[in-house]
Amino acid sequence: MTNKAKTLNCDLRPHVKTHKTLQGAYLQTNGTCRKITVSTLAEASYFANNGFDDILYAVPITSDKLHDAAVIANKIQTFHIMVDNIIQLNAILATPPPSSTKLWSIIVMVDCGYHRDGVDPEDINSLNIIQNINAASNATFAGIYTHGGHSYDCSNKQEIQKIAKDERDSVSFNSFFFYNVFAVNHTFQNYTQTVYTNFSKLIFIYICFCVAIFLKFVLKQVVHFSQKY
Ligand SMILES: Cc1ncc(COP(=O)(O)O)c(C=O)c1O
Repeated sequence: MTNKAKTLNCDLRPHVKTHKTLQGAYLQTNGTCRKITVSTLAEASYFANNGFDDILYAVPITSDKLHDAAVIANKIQTFHIMVDNIIQLNAILATPPPSSTKLWSIIVMVDCGYHRDGVDPEDINSLNIIQNINAASNATFAGIYTHGGHSYDCSNKQEIQKIAKDERDSVSFNSFFFYNVFAVNHTFQNYTQTVYTNFSKLIFIYICFCVAIFLKFVLKQVVHFSQKY
């Protein structure tokens, strides 16, 4: 899987919740001890205390866990937490960041059809969550995440491929904006810049469009007056 991810120019972020062992995580990360996913803060703490970094706690976080999350975040370089609704997000944004130099690093969970958790990819309000994170001074948007757990019930390859396709489609839903967020966040890097770059491009195109309409109007008036007089 490491090689496959490398070929696709992606980072692999394996889950360690099943084995919960340093040896297993060491093998999964090809000895780098970077980029793992956990399902509890106890796991996060254990791996953080044992040399692992860039850890994602892949369960939408509740406000009672923010204190422990901040402790872990201060132990390592990168600790990502996850949200899938605006109430959780508001609780995070109302909480001071882990330290004066470390903001909350937030990943947004997108529901790709499993319906256990995640924002609705068809709901334009899901974008508000990302926009609110980007606008906050104590948090940074670190990407989006899907989990196609319903694939566990598949009994053949076609069913698995269908779920994989749905998962992919869920992150490229009706928004150019969201699609670009996803495309860059395979690597969880430089997303903000790309989002802003794409947003700037949209604004530029919109302004050009308005100027063209205005010029067309002026031209029409000139032609009208020249014909009249
Ligand atoms: C949020 C989340 N991500 C990833 C996984 C593991 O996914 P996989 O079975 O593809 O390793 C799970 C498993 O339940 C999960 O809950």
